[in-house]
Amino acid sequence: MSEIRIIRSLHEMISHAEELQKNGIRIGLVPTMGYLHEGHLSLVRLLDGHCDLKAASIFVNPIQFGPNEDLAKYPRNEVRDLELLEKEGCELVFAPSPEEMYPEDYQTYIEVELMSKTLCGRFRPDHFRGVATIVNRLFNLTRCSVAAFGLKDFQQAQVIKKMKRDLHLPVKLLFGETVREDDGLAMSSRNAYLDEEQRNLAGYIPKSLEWVSREANVAEQDSDCLRAGMEDILNTQPGIKIQYIEFVDPKTLDPVQIIDRKVQVLLAVYIGKTRLIDNIEIGPGSKMKPFKELTV
Ligand code: PAJ
Repeated sequence: MSEIRIIRSLHEMISHAEELQKNGIRIGLVPTMGYLHEGHLSLVRLLDGHCDLKAASIFVNPIQFGPNEDLAKYPRNEVRDLELLEKEGCELVFAPSPEEMYPEDYQTYIEVELMSKTLCGRFRPDHFRGVATIVNRLFNLTRCSVAAFGLKDFQQAQVIKKMKRDLHLPVKLLFGETVREDDGLAMSSRNAYLDEEQRNLAGYIPKSLEWVSREANVAEQDSDCLRAGMEDILNTQPGIKIQYIEFVDPKTLDPVQIIDRKVQVLLAVYIGKTRLIDNIEIGPGSKMKPFKELTV
């Protein structure tokens, strides 16, 4: 296995990417904010067969965090991240500093307007503008032919898909299933914030999703009844505060009342100060696998 190359400067990234492109080497990219887990690594694996060189970016993107969010304490461990990426056969890591990415005169942003305002966007108003902007720039800087994203961040995945379509970006997008812990909790860098008691509470999130998925398969249902059932499960635990539970069309993210087709259920909850999100596809024709098959 060749040694992993770490690039921190924008200019070096562009000239290296151009060199690779000139030699016909197709770059595959997994954009990340680091503190990697199996969810991220599954995306590196997803690139296999779709590119000639696997790359990842590690960058905690300040402009996707709100003023009272966890930017300063977002977990970081670059040494471990690089080891994990190298083991997965990743040959290139782009890890710029915030100053490098956002010089003082930086002023261009991308906004996928409607989709960025619903669901998480209601509570994190500039979040998806920050995500779309950095992802677009990472595509440009790395000249990647293909990029992989996780369905764990379902709204993010749809926003990126829409940006690609609207701006005709020449990047193939791949989407990976949510990788889960043994009890079904979606892996997330933010799970590191949870103490033992909170970690146990977090297990109620997948419980509520499994419940809704089963319930929606039994009969056509009204989303208000299903939401109430999920609230009942989560509200048994005083340590869990629901921010939202929504039933939406998976492509448009518009609300859906009756579950007579494939519908995406998305939720955000707080456990203490930690905000966790998750989602699941439900309804007729949904291809949901039992969570046990998605654990590692
Ligand atoms: P981050 O949270 O580090 O996630 C990087 C990628 O890993 C995203 O595509 C995310 O959906 C995916 N991912 C996270 N947890 C996962 C899980 N349990 N199973 C499968 N995939 C998972 O998402 C971001 O960073 C940022 O917003 C980014 C796209 C890098 C832009 O800054």
